[in-house]
Amino acid sequence: MAFDPGFLDELRARTPIAAVIGRRTKLGRSGRNWKACCPFHGEKTPSFYVYDDHFHCFGCGVHGDVISFVMQSEGRSFPEAVEQLANEAGLDMPRQDPRQEARAQEARSLGDVLEAVQAVYRQALYQPAGKQALAYLRRRGLSDATIERFGLGWAGEGRGALLEALRGQDITAEQLLQAGLMRVDERGAPKGELFFSRVMFPIRDRRGRLISFGGRTLGDAQPKYVNGPETALFSKRRALYNLDQARAALRDPAQKLIVAEGYMDVIALAQAGFDAAVAPLGTAMGAEQLELLWREASHPILCLDGDAAGARAALRVAELALPLLSPERSLKFCRLDPKDDPDSLIRRDGPQAMRNVLDGASSLAEELFQLMLAGVQQDVPEQRAALKKRLEAAAALIADRDLASEYRQALMDRFFASSRRGGKGAAGKPRREKTPIRVAIGETGALERLRLLTALVLRYPTLLPEIEDHYGRLDLPAPLDDVRDAVLDWFADLPSADALTGEACLMALDAEGLGDEARTLLGSSLAPAPQGEKGGLFSLEPIQQWWHFLGLVNFPAFVREVEQDMQAALANPALEGLPEALLVRLRTLDRLRRGEESEGED
Ligand code: UTP
Ligand code: MN
Repeated sequence: MAFDPGFLDELRARTPIAAVIGRRTKLGRSGRNWKACCPFHGEKTPSFYVYDDHFHCFGCGVHGDVISFVMQSEGRSFPEAVEQLANEAGLDMPRQDPRQEARAQEARSLGDVLEAVQAVYRQALYQPAGKQALAYLRRRGLSDATIERFGLGWAGEGRGALLEALRGQDITAEQLLQAGLMRVDERGAPKGELFFSRVMFPIRDRRGRLISFGGRTLGDAQPKYVNGPETALFSKRRALYNLDQARAALRDPAQKLIVAEGYMDVIALAQAGFDAAVAPLGTAMGAEQLELLWREASHPILCLDGDAAGARAALRVAELALPLLSPERSLKFCRLDPKDDPDSLIRRDGPQAMRNVLDGASSLAEELFQLMLAGVQQDVPEQRAALKKRLEAAAALIADRDLASEYRQALMDRFFASSRRGGKGAAGKPRREKTPIRVAIGETGALERLRLLTALVLRYPTLLPEIEDHYGRLDLPAPLDDVRDAVLDWFADLPSADALTGEACLMALDAEGLGDEARTLLGSSLAPAPQGEKGGLFSLEPIQQWWHFLGLVNFPAFVREVEQDMQAALANPALEGLPEALLVRLRTLDRLRRGEESEGED
């Protein structure tokens, strides 16, 4: 609604800004003005100044008049802040256009109907008829406080329970139809209630006004969820579940805006302390919902299911977002394991696991690249060319020209890096020719060393990121090479580094029929480390042991490669100190040289 500027001027003149701000934060005198510790950012010494008609913080830069203060400090919209201040100042709100007024009136009464319905659903949850539903929610891990906080309820049995419960409240079937709670017959007349035998989730708009409901079955009946239809109050495209509570939570800068897929995800997230979570309402995310998100946060994190459908959804949203991006409006993405959603992850592994997933969220550019790369065969030139075109087209969708060129660059960097790497491996790492590391099998102890190298990998798969390249180039005899191939395949397909465990590795080998081979290697080669043998080889870290045995397998090759990597590192002007991975190999080299000398002396 547009306000008459004269009215707004009068409102400002009649509202002493220092008094309004003084209600929120303690003001001290500063000459003829006031100062305070800024209510919008944490500070110990005041840099927030209040003048006759505006405020300004020299710490964080917030600035505005009395209306924007109320908007920012209380999370109000402009008309809400105006109305509140006008009430306080005893000013009448200007008359509105009568048509608008009628619409507002209607909306108000529909809202009242929904509130009455909500009260019925809520009560039912705690009555004998709702016992099963309450048990269901508790079984899914919701605390009573959470059930209350989200206003969950129970729509009783049969398509008439609601009207029955509302009897005596002056609410008609026609009104329930307007509110989206009835089905209709061929003539458009109300016919039976839409929701029954479902757990009810109230849906509110960004200001916390009830606009519709979603309902879930207790069992496996289809459809699992039913959402209210479009009404005068409810437009699915323009709503997000829990946006009202998320907005409030975002006043805490530690909270991040998270977009999940479903009702239960949002609720589980909130119960675990991720209060700023929202979800679309049974439809794919649209541009209007992106706009809603960006009003609250510059980089909302999309947390999609880890399955193929999740990947498709991610790509859709990414492409939808591109034309709308600006430096202050982007997205982040995090991916869960297939078959997981935030609800199941938190239930099984706890909030910290969710925190880790969120902390690992990737940028839009990275996600876009990975999504487009998926399924492309890197060794087929036609496919690479098509990928390149697709990446370029994606960057071209960005309206902001500077940003578009940055994206083009970022995507092309990844494109070229991906071909050099030929798949996995740390980006940008200089790659040597894939020279095999030859082994003189005849030599005493050579085979035993190769078995040890393999056994170390099986026991400590976390070594793989560091040794993958060398392990892959080792000239191994059968069946060690079969084991190696299976291990590296498993490693390449690993969804996350958390899964790098000995057990998971053995399971992967079992699946290839190599489990027995692996167990034999583990059993014979890694006999318990000699106890108390100070300084012995087995007291070294696994990574040091691994390099040690590799060095023994082909000493000249080991020396050559360490020296090459050293030269390369020193030639890199950006480098500050040698990387730890290289230092470990240097120390090994040192140890081996000393060992050789002593052997020579024997
Ligand atoms: P999901 O199938 O992922 O369900 O649907 P969920 O949220 O994990 O629910 P639980 O854990 O099985 O209870 C995600 C969202 O898609 C919409 C709902 O908004 C749901 O929250 N949906 C799903 C429907 O609208 N109808 C359906 O039949 C299923
Ligand atoms: Mn779920």
